[in-house]
Amino acid sequence: MSKPRILLARAVFPEVVDKLRQVAEVQTNPDDAVWSQAELIERLQGKQGVFTTGGDRIDAAVLKACPDLRICANMAVGYNNFDVPAMTAAGVVATNAPDVLTETTADLGFALLMATARRLAESEHYLRAGQWTKWSYDMFAGSDIHGSTLGILGMGRIGQAIARRGAHGFGMRVIYHNRSRLSPELEAQCRAQYVSKSDLLAQSDHLILVLPYSAESHHAVGAAELAQMKSSATLVNIARGGIVDDAALAQALKNRTIAAAGLDVFEEEPKVHPGLLEVPNVVLTPHIGSASLPTRKAMAHLAADNLVAFFTGRPLLTPLNPDPR
Ligand code: 8YV
Repeated sequence: MSKPRILLARAVFPEVVDKLRQVAEVQTNPDDAVWSQAELIERLQGKQGVFTTGGDRIDAAVLKACPDLRICANMAVGYNNFDVPAMTAAGVVATNAPDVLTETTADLGFALLMATARRLAESEHYLRAGQWTKWSYDMFAGSDIHGSTLGILGMGRIGQAIARRGAHGFGMRVIYHNRSRLSPELEAQCRAQYVSKSDLLAQSDHLILVLPYSAESHHAVGAAELAQMKSSATLVNIARGGIVDDAALAQALKNRTIAAAGLDVFEEEPKVHPGLLEVPNVVLTPHIGSASLPTRKAMAHLAADNLVAFFTGRPLLTPLNPDPR
C-alpha cells in the first residue's frame, strides 16, 4: 500500500519531520513561508494529512477544494483557525495540542503581568536611551503584585495555573469569571472565587485574559469594559487577538483610564495597532506564550503523534471531533 501524504504548513523541528517520514510522504515548508489560502489549497492537493499552526485557517472553502484531506493536526491548544463543524461535516479529523503548554503559558502570563505592573519595559528603554542620570522618589513607581487582587477571565487549564501562581506564590486574592463555574475542589486548589464579569472588571488590580477566541468572546474587553476597570489597573492578554478591542485599549492607555497593559496577542497580528506602539504604558511581546524550547517541542510532537496515530490505525491522542474511521 502506498504511504499517505502529509503537508507541513510551516517549518518545524527536523526531528518531528523525521517522525512523520516514518509513516508518510512529507512535503515541508523549508522557507517557513506564510502561505495564502490559495497557496495552501494548491499544496494540499493529493494530501491526506496536514500539520498546521494557529495561523493556518482550515475552513469550508479549503475542505471543499481539498477532497483528499482526512486529518488536520494543529500545533496549538487554541483552534479558532479551524472550522470544526465544517470539518466534522466533511468527515475530516481535527486535533489540537493541549496540556503540554499549560504551565509554560501561565509562566509567560505571569511574566507579562509583572513586567506590566512594575513597568519593566518602559524603564529598560529609559535606561538604554541614556536617560537615567539620577534616582528619584517616584521613578517608575508601579503597582504591587503581592497582596493585590488578580482577576482571571477564562478559567480553563491555563487560567487555573495562573491562579495557583497568584494565590500560592504571591499571596494574591484571586477572583475569576468563566462560562461555567469550577468545582468546589478546583476552586479550593486555585484559591479562586467566582464573580460576575462586572465585579471582575471593577475589582481586579490586575486582569488577565485566558479565554478561547470565538464569535462570543470577540471584543469581550472593549471601551465599555475598560471603563469599568480601576484607573490603577493593569490588563494582560495572553489568549487571542480579537478578545480585546485594540483601538479602544490604545485609547484607554493614552487617556490613562487604566494604568498599563501587557499584550502577547493582537487583533491583526503580526500587525500591531499603531496606537499601541505610541503609548509607553504597554509591554508588547510577539505571541510567545508557549515559547520555551521543551514546550514547543512537546506541542510539535503531540501534533505529529496525532497524525502518526491516525495513519497507523491507532486512537487519536487529542481529538476535537468524532473520529470517522
Ligand atoms: C502557538 C497558541 O504558539 O497554542 C496556542 O493556542 O496560541 C500558541 O501556543 C501558536 O498558535 C502557534 O501554533
